[in-house]
Amino acid sequence: MQKHNLPPQITNEHLVKPSRRDLIQSVTCLLAAPLFGQSTQDVVARLRLDQPGPQISRHIYGQFIEHLGGVIYDGIWVGPESKIPNIRGIRQAFVEAMKQIRVPNFRWPGGCFADEYHWRDGIGPREQRPRTYNMWQADYPGKDKGVEPNAFGTHEFIDLCRLTGAEPYLAANVGSGSPREFHEWVLYCNAPEGTVSVADLRVRNGAKEPFNVRYWGVGNEPWGCGGNFKPEEYATEYRRFVTQYPYAYGQPFLIAAGPNGGARDGHLSWTRGFFQAMQGHGPRLLPHGWALHYYTGQRRSAKLPANSPDRFYDVLEAGLRMDTLIEEHWKVMGEFDKEHRTKLVVDEWGVWQPREEQQVLGPRYVLSQHGTLRDALHAALTLDIFNRHAEKLAMCNLAQTINCLHSLFAARGDQFVRLPTYYVFAMYQPHMDARRLPLEMEAGTFTAKSGQETVTLPRLAGSASRSDQSVLVTLVNPHLEMPVRLRVELSGGQAREARAQVLTHEDPYVEHDVGKPEVVQPRPLRVELNSAGTVLSVEVPAHAVVAIQLRVA
Ligand code: AHR
Repeated sequence: MQKHNLPPQITNEHLVKPSRRDLIQSVTCLLAAPLFGQSTQDVVARLRLDQPGPQISRHIYGQFIEHLGGVIYDGIWVGPESKIPNIRGIRQAFVEAMKQIRVPNFRWPGGCFADEYHWRDGIGPREQRPRTYNMWQADYPGKDKGVEPNAFGTHEFIDLCRLTGAEPYLAANVGSGSPREFHEWVLYCNAPEGTVSVADLRVRNGAKEPFNVRYWGVGNEPWGCGGNFKPEEYATEYRRFVTQYPYAYGQPFLIAAGPNGGARDGHLSWTRGFFQAMQGHGPRLLPHGWALHYYTGQRRSAKLPANSPDRFYDVLEAGLRMDTLIEEHWKVMGEFDKEHRTKLVVDEWGVWQPREEQQVLGPRYVLSQHGTLRDALHAALTLDIFNRHAEKLAMCNLAQTINCLHSLFAARGDQFVRLPTYYVFAMYQPHMDARRLPLEMEAGTFTAKSGQETVTLPRLAGSASRSDQSVLVTLVNPHLEMPVRLRVELSGGQAREARAQVLTHEDPYVEHDVGKPEVVQPRPLRVELNSAGTVLSVEVPAHAVVAIQLRVA
């Protein structure tokens, strides 16, 4: 039997669509969250309700899944014969949980694996598919060392997308593939029956209707595992791959592989080199998306205990670099593309723990990490950064959704658990496709020690958005001990109703793991609204994420 550690009090309905009865006017007195700190800091914020800005694309809340360790095999694909509840081989608990947070997209099949993946190996009867090489499996113990079984291929991936309501984002093979292989994959997915022969092959494999895949990535990390190119070399490859794209069957959103945000200098040279090399080829060839990767490592605290303030603050501060990376790459892109035809995509982001803290689910679960409250705070800080840059970002994808780096779930055999970051995505859902609102906060910063160095973090960070009469304000207090008493002055309208949720735990270093209860879950938080509906007061506990939903007049 599959064990679901489902939170009793959280359902999609509970999070997103409160009934009028649930919303208490003027003063919402729900269970007060525990306060962990001794003293409290006062912060004032201003929110204009009548100044909706750019739309926050739902695709910013996207996911990334790769053929890597336990992500696809066991995490998502258990096979139709499995005793684990599944839908045509796909883990049912995964499908249900993804539907609850309205997952907008999945990027697949890699990552580095994309540049060794040949899509024809993953179609047709499963028992006849070849066993190919997967470099991520190189250290597997046993007979399948280095082996990719190809049981999960294009049809299974599209099935996953349809079951969850997600849009597919396929990454094509540049490193060891060809433009022809890419174009035929596009045709296999998108051409109607009776047109090109490869479309009929899809129909013979059981899919009469085209898959209508719009998002196509052209390679992955070409500066590294995707071919070790120079930026101008990759630009040449990019043009070779897209010039003869088969446009007859739909307009694509083409994503070129951008910089390594983890490089000391932010890898601006990659962005500059690529766009420089694209000059003189006309705007038609410019990619629609430029994909930045940024993993949060531990610059100062890798050798310090995982459960220490030094590590906690180091990870959160390093995560904030995302803000600068977006700003700086956007600026360089604008030097060549003044109208910003090309938008930014962040199709790999998340916390990457030191090597000694990986494989926590077992040796086959490559790069698997503990799911911590700290990582949930990191995710919330990052999503707020994305919201604040909504006009620049077309898509972002957390790496990787299950059994890997910064995951939403851990699954092993019949065990399945939601990790704290899952609940951040649940609480932030109403931001998807809403319009950003200007949230001005005078919160200031605090400093803390990480190893021998000092880190600086905001006392409170956040973002706000509006969709019709519904407003969402999300906030993160990264301080380990000190709560924040926040007063939000509303203008340009009044709030009629307010309610809030908080994600925190007494133990800031708490982790979720398979076989253990999900102790970190959103809980109701007390929020007060004055009778005029113009001032909101809330106490944000230490090391907490808060989501406040308002119904506005
Ligand atoms: O997410 C793990 C790996 O990190 C991806 O395969 C690669 O693109 C990146 O370096």
